[in-house]
Amino acid sequence: MVREILIWPDPILKEKTRLVEAVDDELRLLVDDMFETMYHAEGVGLAANQIGVSLRLAVVDTSQSEEGGIGPMVLINPEILSMEGSIRFREGCLSIPGEAEEVIRAEKVRFRFRDLDWNLVEMEATGLSAVAIQHECDHLDGKVYVERISSLKRERIRKRMKRLKEARRAQASS
Ligand code: NI
Repeated sequence: MVREILIWPDPILKEKTRLVEAVDDELRLLVDDMFETMYHAEGVGLAANQIGVSLRLAVVDTSQSEEGGIGPMVLINPEILSMEGSIRFREGCLSIPGEAEEVIRAEKVRFRFRDLDWNLVEMEATGLSAVAIQHECDHLDGKVYVERISSLKRERIRKRMKRLKEARRAQASS
């Protein structure tokens, strides 16, 4: 099922998420919904808190966007172990529709997570995939990319998101 994606700013997006304790049927259904929602919105990553579930869980798929990309992949309790280099990348976010800004990120990351079989997996990613991993881990820590850009740009985006939310509310009530 395609779920509604929260628009920034939202109190849930600011909260640090809780660790996942086990994989059960409910979590598997949530993961299915997250993939469906991400593909429907044509994104390359989605964190659970973006659909209102405050768990340390994300899905990523950069395989269509980059040669040697990663995914489709489920990241349970992901953490970044090390970062290397730097890359300037124009980032967007499904919670900030229609916007994109350059952010400086590490060019290469080593990260660890559990998969749906609860195996501990360690991996490396570079380029867009490394950016996606950092972007999703930020979400799970209660951060969005606009906190990494100038306050001037951020406040402009905040105004546009306010108008977008008002327009959506008006549409929903008409
Ligand atoms: Ni995002």
